[in-house]
Amino acid sequence: MTDKLNNLLANYQIYYQNLRGFHWNIKGRDFFELHELFEQLYTDAAVKIDEIAERILTLGDTPLHSYEAYLSESDLKPATDISASAQSMTLIYDAHEVLIGKMNDVMEIAGEKNDEGTADLISPIINQMQKTNWMIGAWLEK
Ligand SMILES: [Fe+2]
Repeated sequence: MTDKLNNLLANYQIYYQNLRGFHWNIKGRDFFELHELFEQLYTDAAVKIDEIAERILTLGDTPLHSYEAYLSESDLKPATDISASAQSMTLIYDAHEVLIGKMNDVMEIAGEKNDEGTADLISPIINQMQKTNWMIGAWLEK
């Protein structure tokens, strides 16, 4: 379980740093709206990252905590020099799909192991991220 959570943590950290870049580099008519949205998303991600890391500690393991570990463990890759709104939003949408898939993997193992604590932590994050992707999908006119 903690291996899966550490993998989720690594992906979340790359996602977080990508959001910082999108927040800083966004250009165009959507600047004010998206600069603010990306800040909301990375502020929320920071909270989730801390909760996931502390769940790993609660289960008796050590959360990954170096950039090197995150980069080697994460499926999501750094997104640099992105300033277009549609590209930023598409990358965020796709990152959410990856994270939701990873959280569903965690839920499956939590079910097998009767790990209600982990399930209780992860389930609302999935719900929230799916709702966010409904909205981003609407923005993208998917
Ligand atoms: Fe800022």
